[in-house]
Amino acid sequence: MIHTRVIAVARDEPEVDILNEAAAVLLGGGLVAFATETVYGLGAVATDAEAVRRIFEAKGRPSFNPLIVHVAGIDQAKRYTTDWSARADVLARRFWPGPLTLVLPRTVDVPEVVTGGGPTVGLRVPAPTVARRLVECVGLPLAAPSANRSNRISPTRAEHVLADLDGRVHLILDSGPTTVGLESTVVDLTADPPAVLRPGPIGPAELAEALSTTTVAPRSHGETETRQAGPHASPGMLSVHYAPRTPAVRVESSARLTDVDWPERAALVAFEPIDLNHIPAQVVRFIQPTSDVAAREFYETLHNLDARRLDLIVAVEPPAGAEWDAIRDRLRRATIPYQRNKRR
Ligand code: TXA
Ligand code: MG
Repeated sequence: MIHTRVIAVARDEPEVDILNEAAAVLLGGGLVAFATETVYGLGAVATDAEAVRRIFEAKGRPSFNPLIVHVAGIDQAKRYTTDWSARADVLARRFWPGPLTLVLPRTVDVPEVVTGGGPTVGLRVPAPTVARRLVECVGLPLAAPSANRSNRISPTRAEHVLADLDGRVHLILDSGPTTVGLESTVVDLTADPPAVLRPGPIGPAELAEALSTTTVAPRSHGETETRQAGPHASPGMLSVHYAPRTPAVRVESSARLTDVDWPERAALVAFEPIDLNHIPAQVVRFIQPTSDVAAREFYETLHNLDARRLDLIVAVEPPAGAEWDAIRDRLRRATIPYQRNKRR
C-alpha cells in the first residue's frame, strides 16, 4: 500500500518547489493526481510503460481502454503523432489549451500500454497553469485518465480523488475544484469526416465551424457499446460507466416522476424547474440554468448525493438540444432507465 500525500498548490502561481517535487515522483515512476480544467487526472510519465501500467492497476481499469496523453503545447504534441494534419492544426490552435482531445496516429514513442494496443493516441493540452507547468517540469508528456476507480464518478475536487484512490496514488496536488467539470470532447481525426467519440464541453457545432465542414459525425451508441476493437472504437463509451454507489435511475421527463415508486430516502436531480407537488423526494437538486453551469455542477452533485447514502437517486433527462449532449451522455452512463419493479 502506497502512502498518499496531499499537497495544496496555488492555482495561478504554483509553487516551483512543489512542482519539482511532483515531477520527481513522476520521473521516479510514481503516480501524481492533478487538476485539469475538466476533472482531476491520475498522471504518470506517458513514455514510461511501467509507470503507465500502475495507472491501470490503481484504477482497476481494463487494459484495452486507452489513456489521454497530456502535452504542454502543439510542438510537443507533434512529437507523438505521425500525422499532424491541417485539421489537427486548426483544432489545436482554436481550442488548446482546453477540453478537446484529438485522436491521431501515434508514433513509436507512445508505448502500447497507453493506447490500449491501438495505432492511435489521444492528445490534449490542459488549460490550468498547474497542469501545464507540471508537464513542462517533467519534460515529458503525462498519460492521465480521470482520477477515479474504474466505473466510479469522475473527481472534480482533490477530496474526491483521495476518497477513491487513497493508498493507490503517491501524491495528489490540490489546486481546488475544477472549472469545467465534465471530461474533454474526444474527436477522432483518423476518421473522415472527423467523429466525436465522446461528447464534451466543446460541442459539434463549434468543431464543425472551426473545421468549416458541416459534418462532424457523432458516434452512435449502438456502435460504441459493443466492444469493437477497431481503431475508432472509444472503449470509454461503454454503457453504465460513471456510476454512483447509490442506485441511480433516470426518467425521460418530469411527467414520468409520478410513476416512480419513491423510497423514503430518495433524491431528485433535474435540469429544469419542476412542479414538486406529489413528488416525495427527500432531497432535490436543480442543476441549471445553462448547460455550462450544469456541467460544472453535475459530478459535484452526484458526489454529494452519493455521500448521503440515500436509497435512490432519480434524475430527469436534460432538455433537448446539442448543448446538453455531454451531460445527457454522462447521465446515461451514471444511471439506468427507471422500471417500476426492477429498480434495485
Ligand atoms: O477531460 C479529460 O479528458 C480527462 C482529463 C484528466 O484530461 N481525462 C479523461 O480520461 O477523461 P479517461 O481515461 O477517463 O477517458 C478517456 C477517454 C476514454 O473514453 C478513452 O476510451 C478515450 O478517451 N480515448 C483515449 N485515447 C483514445 C484513442 N487513442 N482512441 C480512441 N479513444 C481514446
Ligand atoms: Mg474516466
